[in-house]
Amino acid sequence: MRQRIIMDVDTGVDDSLALLYLLASPDAEIAGIAATAGNVPAAQVAINNLAWLELAGAPEIEVALGAADPLEIPLRTTEDTHGPHGIGYADLPTPTRSLSSRTADRLWVDLARRYPGELIGLCTGPLTNLALALRTEPDLPRLLRRLVIMGGAFNHPGNTTPTNEWNIHVDPEAAKIVFDAFAAAPPDRRPLVCALDITETIEMRPVHLAELAERAGSLPVETVSPADPPGPRSAASNPIIRHLTDAVRFYFDFHRDHDLGYLAHMHDPFAAAVALDPTLVRTRPATVDVELTGTLTRATTVADWAGMWGRPPNADIVVATDPARFFDRMIGRIGDFARDRFPAEATTGHQ
Ligand code: RIB
Ligand code: CA
Repeated sequence: MRQRIIMDVDTGVDDSLALLYLLASPDAEIAGIAATAGNVPAAQVAINNLAWLELAGAPEIEVALGAADPLEIPLRTTEDTHGPHGIGYADLPTPTRSLSSRTADRLWVDLARRYPGELIGLCTGPLTNLALALRTEPDLPRLLRRLVIMGGAFNHPGNTTPTNEWNIHVDPEAAKIVFDAFAAAPPDRRPLVCALDITETIEMRPVHLAELAERAGSLPVETVSPADPPGPRSAASNPIIRHLTDAVRFYFDFHRDHDLGYLAHMHDPFAAAVALDPTLVRTRPATVDVELTGTLTRATTVADWAGMWGRPPNADIVVATDPARFFDRMIGRIGDFARDRFPAEATTGHQ
């Protein structure tokens, strides 16, 4: 049975894979996409999602524009990480589809009220628009069936400052509003938190791109290399594989340039897989709060695992998974999806 899901994204290379993963998943129905400012400005996030949806031949899925800025601080973007437009070296065809007339926070509220107890929320970007939605509808934690958040770092270094993670860093006030709001949630409605502790074990490598191409029947099967010059260069016959390869190569370059190896941490498609199937992970309950005033530690997520604060748990933090199992599932689903969308015998010329 298809699970209804709202994606709140800051697309982003790995957000792009999260979208493709859900489009490729028979057990998912994307009820709407909230475009949140983060990796790139919200308007660019929206364009990226409309473009991927059109390339993928997806149904008319609503894409709603989020707030231009975080709740209280100026927006910081990271084109050095995800590319000038947020999709690496990929140059997607300009979308002809148009944006929703609703705002992203309105989309959250309207969908949660329309599908009480059914809607899964997946956040793979800053929590600005979810926080705004909570201000309108404080009952969201009860209305949602499940919430999965890619964000934070607990017993693990940050990726933006020594202690904080990008999605929280961009809008820490919003993150605190979200975690505080779930303090009253029943145990089965606590957010599932995919923090860097676990998502930095999800290491995509060139071999995974080659396996995706093989699964999609795309030719040639390319082995991207750190020696490749910058810029779009994939000659893959399958347009989804081609653009995906060009997008991910930028992310590989970024990780290599930061001494992490020629690989990419696939934070967001992992969170998407967890949103559809929480049996992929093991979790531990904790009380999570967000530091807002620390000179060195602002936007750090802090987990109280032992009840030291005397506050009930408000999150289930992912503490274990099997990365290989996730990659098998992601490559199988996106590879088959790309093949069915662009059958090998039909892919002549570039799209
Ligand atoms: O810290 C990783 C997260 O920040 C990912 O969601 C990435 O897309 C960026 O949004
Ligand atoms: Ca993201």
